Amino acid sequence: MYGLMNSLTRLRATQLLLLTISILDTGNIAEATTESLFQGFKATPKPSVSSFQPLLNDSTGNFSLGFLRVDKTQLALAVLHVPSSQPLWLANPTQLATWSDSTQLFFNGSLVISDSHSRVFWSTQTNGDIVVLLNSSNLQIQNLHNSPSILWQSFDVPSDTLVENQSFTVNMSLISTNGLYSMRLGYNFIGLYAKFQENSAQPDQIYLKHTALEAQAQIVEGQGPIYALVNSDGYLGLYQNGTKPIDVQAFNSFQRPINGFLRVRLEPDGNLIAYYWDGSSWVLDFKAISDTCELPSPCGSYGLCTPGQQSCSCLDNRTEFRFGTECLPVGTGDFCGEQVVKDNNWAFTRKGVEVPFKELMYYETTSSFGECEGLCENNCSCWGAVYNNGSGFCFLMDYPIQTLVSVGDESKVGYFKVREGGGKKKTSVVAAIGFVAAGGAIMILIGIGGFWTYRIWRRKTWDKNDEISPGPYKNLGSESSKSIEVEMCNR
Ligand SMILES: *[C@@H]1O[C@H](CO)[C@@H](O)[C@H](O)[C@H]1NC(C)=O
Ligand SMILES: *[C@@H]1O[C@H](CO)[C@@H](O)[C@H](O)[C@H]1NC(C)=O
Ligand SMILES: *[C@@H]1O[C@H](CO)[C@@H](O)[C@H](O)[C@H]1NC(C)=O
Ligand SMILES: *[C@@H]1O[C@H](CO)[C@@H](O)[C@H](O)[C@H]1NC(C)=O
Ligand SMILES: *[C@@H]1O[C@H](CO)[C@@H](O)[C@H](O)[C@H]1NC(C)=O
Ligand SMILES: *[C@@H]1O[C@H](CO)[C@@H](O)[C@H](O)[C@H]1NC(C)=O
Repeated sequence: MYGLMNSLTRLRATQLLLLTISILDTGNIAEATTESLFQGFKATPKPSVSSFQPLLNDSTGNFSLGFLRVDKTQLALAVLHVPSSQPLWLANPTQLATWSDSTQLFFNGSLVISDSHSRVFWSTQTNGDIVVLLNSSNLQIQNLHNSPSILWQSFDVPSDTLVENQSFTVNMSLISTNGLYSMRLGYNFIGLYAKFQENSAQPDQIYLKHTALEAQAQIVEGQGPIYALVNSDGYLGLYQNGTKPIDVQAFNSFQRPINGFLRVRLEPDGNLIAYYWDGSSWVLDFKAISDTCELPSPCGSYGLCTPGQQSCSCLDNRTEFRFGTECLPVGTGDFCGEQVVKDNNWAFTRKGVEVPFKELMYYETTSSFGECEGLCENNCSCWGAVYNNGSGFCFLMDYPIQTLVSVGDESKVGYFKVREGGGKKKTSVVAAIGFVAAGGAIMILIGIGGFWTYRIWRRKTWDKNDEISPGPYKNLGSESSKSIEVEMCNR
């Protein structure tokens, strides 16, 4: 339950983050900030600022470093794309400071966020002379007289976004704002990984693997690791050490004279999406996962995604799907260990289901569903198994059950374990409420059902640019613009 609440809280925090940013007016940033910070620089967040307090901008005014208010009371140091208010980089996404005058950003050679008790939230741990924001959105700490001149740069520690011409190496990872998904490089591939279980010793589950085609250049053993780069010609390239890419993942804008600034973001739903800035909004340029049901968990834990019909339901057909709540709680830990009260666990089966990303899932071959079920039932780190009667493949899930895909083929059967008595009791309560509600309000349900399903679906598909990227400031109400103008004057 704890893990679930955590992810829900994080989700909410993300939504708030987007909400917060969308009320931001950025028209005055250029006047309000300098173009470099020197030793001795200090800043504290202003109580009156509701969204973003700029501190340093680049020479074009397109990018700005400043305090970003998160979830009303928290603070992240962020680099924003100014015209869209889109954060491109966060200094401290996992350890937010509080938005209060006890929080301070200073530059003493290191750029440091600390509180009044000298607790350091984040530090670059450098000894540099100057902080600059380049016109690429890269934040750098530089030496003016000694070499190397670049001591630290934000491009080396990306958050959830890569911008054009930013190298992504094997030592880096992109992490979605909710902390659930990550992107990393392997020997010859880009992998997307999900952390379905917090504090677990199990490695993350890979849900997308894009292997280099090696059409123009081959990987040469001993020539160093590969790296990725968002090329301004409209593709995500994989390179080893030459100028020719070992792989080209083309975007829509590939080899077309669009000339818009590109960014690639690992979204909170686990998709990897590329956008370009057309001067007034972000245009979708590429998405790694086009079918929503192939996302790692579009309907949450114990959910069921129906392709084509575009809807979410629950695996356990006694539970009604409701957006914002999980079908069944996953709790923490697995079925191993003495603290697990066996009587409180239960299991169910469901026909016509399949695992997404099955080509990346672990499986064994068994002769029957019964044998497959047995493999999982007797293994305390197994949460469920899905059997394909046609191939004999028995897919085993060693993480809390996520969303499965609904298929017409009834010979594909799943077996799912549920932890804790709380889970079962809750289910019956939910079911009971569901029945009462159904009795009393069935007409209403019929009326709003379709709309609700549509809304749920819309919120959960990638095709929601309005939600993903806040609108351009031009479209925002003048009310919010005014209040920020006042803030700017008060500086
Ligand atoms: C800068 O401040 C931090 C935090 O107080 C401190 O740990 C560090 O030693 C300081 N660096 C320099 C160069 O003074
Ligand atoms: C960005 O900076 C580089 C190097 O300083 C410069 O060559 C380039 O013209 C600049 N681009 C823009 C759009 O200002
Ligand atoms: C930067 O600003 C210029 C105008 O000052 C605009 O034409 C250009 O599209 C902007 N670039 C980005 C990436 O926003
Ligand atoms: C729920 O699933 C069980 C087992 O698959 C099935 O027997 C039952 O008819 C289903 N109930 C409903 C309401 O669909
Ligand atoms: C239990 O399952 C895990 C992962 O599903 C697997 O790694 C392990 O080998 C299994 N243990 C046994 C005894 O089958
Ligand atoms: C599973 O496959 C076997 C033979 O491969 C077949 O006899 C059986 O009817 C199938 N079961 C289902 C439920 O489709």
